[in-house]
Amino acid sequence: MDMFVIRGGQPLAGRVRVGGAKNSALPIMAAALLADGETVLRDVPDLMDVRTLGELLQSLGMCVERRADRSLAMQVIDNRPVIADYELVRKMRASFCVLGPLLARRGRACVSLPGGCNIGDRPIELHLKGLRALGADIRVERGYVIAEVRRLHGNRIYLGGPFGSTVTGTCNVMSAAVLAEGETIIEAAACEPEVVDLGNMLNAMGAQITGLGTPFLRIEGVDRLRGVEHTIIPDRIEAATLMVASAITGGCVEIENVRLTHLTAVIEKLREIGVRIELTDDQPTPIEQLNTIDQLIVSLETETLPMTPVSSLRQDSDPVIRVEGPLELRAVDATALPYPGLPTDVQAQVMSLLCLAPGISVVTDKVFPDRFMHASELVRLGATIRREGPSAIISGVGQLSGACVMASDLRASAALVLAGLAAEGETVVKRIYHLDRGYESLERKLNHLGAQIRRVEDKPENMPRSLCLAEATGEPPASFDAPHFLRTPVREANLNPSGHE
Ligand code: EPZ
Repeated sequence: MDMFVIRGGQPLAGRVRVGGAKNSALPIMAAALLADGETVLRDVPDLMDVRTLGELLQSLGMCVERRADRSLAMQVIDNRPVIADYELVRKMRASFCVLGPLLARRGRACVSLPGGCNIGDRPIELHLKGLRALGADIRVERGYVIAEVRRLHGNRIYLGGPFGSTVTGTCNVMSAAVLAEGETIIEAAACEPEVVDLGNMLNAMGAQITGLGTPFLRIEGVDRLRGVEHTIIPDRIEAATLMVASAITGGCVEIENVRLTHLTAVIEKLREIGVRIELTDDQPTPIEQLNTIDQLIVSLETETLPMTPVSSLRQDSDPVIRVEGPLELRAVDATALPYPGLPTDVQAQVMSLLCLAPGISVVTDKVFPDRFMHASELVRLGATIRREGPSAIISGVGQLSGACVMASDLRASAALVLAGLAAEGETVVKRIYHLDRGYESLERKLNHLGAQIRRVEDKPENMPRSLCLAEATGEPPASFDAPHFLRTPVREANLNPSGHE
């Protein structure tokens, strides 16, 4: 098992590119089960979760081939297998997204229930409710969901739950309804950009879905779908994580391939905290050609952002933004909500940033109200955080100090890495396999920006001396090298703007 050793205090600078979105790629890969012919997905991140799903799809009769140009070529060669095994599904919940496509295409699916999770309850009853409404006969036996149907029939389905809609639930039901007989209306559908990306790909395959990006989807079933080429949208959560990395180190980072309309709430919140975010001068698409995002650019200048519907965005290439950390952060309240609200997948990273904002901040998660495992680890780094129900109350401190911390899930790992970048001295983040599931070479990208992160095997001899108490004397840890100053604006540090990922 690997761990990160991070030497903090270095303002980040340079340019980095955001890759394709993990949470788009996974349901889209599962939807390739529906197609006749080859599906080619572009900009698919090379991640553990993508590999795990690839393995599962191979076990379900697909040929899955990763190509050198970051694309994934997929084709069904055997339509008979219907069992998604526990050993693969338990590794990654998104594997459950094969249920809808299998049922629609093969009439039968046995998919293992995914089991527990570190970010709180993850029920799947809305997925089952939606598929039952389409006519599937579903039972749970020996830990497997067994679903059968002769032909799915369109219906009106309400997918709202106690915490809003369900992202992968909407993907599952939508991916089944495209091959159902007649019309399906999904009400309270998830509006997340990843659902829209899946819907756009299904439409390119021949499906008839309207209303993408709104809570009302209308789907007219078709008889068959064909393989297509599709480019995965940029990962808004990776973009947000890199934005916080710049902000928390007082850095100046330029980020390429950022779809601004997917990040409205994140940009608003970071600005409220005092982070400066603007478009760079060298946009890949001339500003006048950015069509519907013109309005957004104007609003970037006036510091208010409109809610541009995701599906209306048309541009050749996504913009580059510059993110500058302020000298002093401002305490704010931040609430994670379904899209277009602040994403729950960014809640932990924003919390790390607010740990350094003088004053009181309240972070609430209304999507996963128990997603706070990172809070007690941040306290180990010197943060002051008190948990109250679905909220964490943070009293900002002047500085964090390096310690050994344990990652509990993907975004919690990212939050701890970010805090480690800002902390004085050395921080060890253990169990970074969580991070590898969802970020493609995060440490390589951050190191390219000037961070000092080493990936080492988790062994006692790799623990930095600065974090070892002298056993015999009980003395405090060996003193650090003189720490780099914190929150020094990068303009005054060694900025190398030519750096390019
Ligand atoms: C997706 O998970 C993402 N995963 C998660 O990202 C993300 O945190 C989450 O959506 C919310 O945005 C993928 O896309 C692969 P939900 P999903 O069903 O679909 C409740 C990451 O870090 N609910 O939208 O599983 C549920 O308990 C991951 O990349 C029900 O009540 O989440 C939660 O409170 C983690 N009944 C809320 O809805 C159900 O049947 C939203 O969950 C289903 C969900």
